[in-house]
Amino acid sequence: MQISTTFQLAMNRRYPEAVAIAIAEDARGIPNPLTLHWVMPTALDPPMLAISIERTRYSLAAVRQAREFVVCFPSTTMSKEVIYFGTKSGREVPKLTACGTRTQPTAVVRGVLLADAVANFECVLESEMETGDHVLFVGRVVAAHMHAEPTVRRVYAFGHSGLAAACSATPV
Ligand SMILES: Cc1cc2nc3c(=O)[nH]c(=O)nc-3n(C[C@H](O)[C@H](O)[C@H](O)COP(=O)(O)O)c2cc1C
Repeated sequence: MQISTTFQLAMNRRYPEAVAIAIAEDARGIPNPLTLHWVMPTALDPPMLAISIERTRYSLAAVRQAREFVVCFPSTTMSKEVIYFGTKSGREVPKLTACGTRTQPTAVVRGVLLADAVANFECVLESEMETGDHVLFVGRVVAAHMHAEPTVRRVYAFGHSGLAAACSATPV
């Protein structure tokens, strides 16, 4: 039986939800990562990924200016990064160096790959759409990378009962 509720309460039932990290170079040339729930594939041919960024984020201007970005699926060893990149702003701190995150060079776009992620996708911005308090960016995937070790698993969020719990690898 369904009972009527608010959008937010109903959305809270959706966990576990995958977590991603998007990285775009800012105006100073610093690759700036932000944690994202809202990422989806939108096409296979050519491959496309969409990310939804809230208007106040530092990353919004970075994506618009760079017109390219990397999308990573963090692994279970990257909870620290998921929380740090999702609570600190690139306006105040160079997040990748502050967090000591292991990176690798990209093949095509400006930015970096996250070495410990399950997968990384280099994207060139195709289009953007205003959608309420967020902006949807669609990127064409121009290079894809995956972790060499197939047993490395993706991290999921299990709720909003504190970020540490939200980024745990198993339900809490
Ligand atoms: C688990 C998690 C999921 C998030 N999902 C999104 C999202 O989908 N879109 C978004 O704009 N912000 C999202 N955020 C918030 C941003 O990652 C956060 O505000 C970040 O500090 C912005 O960084 P910036 O100012 O350097 O761009 C999420 C944060 C966490 C912890």
